[in-house]
Amino acid sequence: MLDLDLSSVGGIINHGGTVLETARCAEFKTEAGMKKAVSTLKKHKIEGLVVIGGDGSFRGAHQLSNRWGVPTIGVPATIDNDIAGTDYAIGFDTAVNTALQAIDRIRDTASSLRRLFVVEVMGRQAGFIALETGLAGGAEEVIIPEIDTDLEKMCQKIVRGYQRGKRSSIVIVAEGSESGGAFKVARQIGDRTGFEVRVSVLGHQQRGGTPTALDRVLASRLGAAAVQQLAKGDTDKMVGIISNRVEVSNLDYAWKFQKQTDLSLLKLIEILSI
Ligand code: F6P
Repeated sequence: MLDLDLSSVGGIINHGGTVLETARCAEFKTEAGMKKAVSTLKKHKIEGLVVIGGDGSFRGAHQLSNRWGVPTIGVPATIDNDIAGTDYAIGFDTAVNTALQAIDRIRDTASSLRRLFVVEVMGRQAGFIALETGLAGGAEEVIIPEIDTDLEKMCQKIVRGYQRGKRSSIVIVAEGSESGGAFKVARQIGDRTGFEVRVSVLGHQQRGGTPTALDRVLASRLGAAAVQQLAKGDTDKMVGIISNRVEVSNLDYAWKFQKQTDLSLLKLIEILSI
């Protein structure tokens, strides 16, 4: 076991991942697992918990607070950015920038050889990463779980683009979309257009690397706010960022409300990529 003191958080701001090595834990979902967690907290005289994660972690935190009286504050952190109560979750901006770098590189080779690429990004059941990387990367098309895509229409637009002189096309597919993933989409586009389509699945690289300034600032602000809430005696809450202000909401907000994807971004991508 690792004793945490002041020096434990020195020199970590520029690293991805977690020094705590914490993760979702199946045992914690059982009564026995929860009792074990509570007795461990008591044994180590831990007076309050800051739970960093997504809605699964927050559900556990809610139980700890409500059933066992452990003061608990949630800090939203997931590249998927699918947590209500915050505009941005920690990790999202870094993941978007990582995916964007990959897309920029793919664009170079695609333009050189007049190729069409289908690029799959993460995001679980949400299209936040796909939409932001799509817009920032000048993608021709973005397929997300929140909306059905008309593949035939999409293919016609891609063909028109090449006829007008486009040198490349990039279709971004969110992993959770109904389309069945990048390989299936690539096959369907190939069958409909006759183009040779290449696929790139970006995968777990989106979950590591040097955090962006935006993520570092967000993590610093939310971390400090979480500690302040605990110091005030608050519990069963999460801290988030709304319109660039730190806001506090009930933990259960994170799973009772579905965060809405801004579909106007999809429209904008369609207009800008004509
Ligand atoms: O929730 C974050 C996330 O990276 C999702 O985008 C992805 O679907 C999932 O985790 C991958 O999980 P694992 O690392 O267990 O394969």
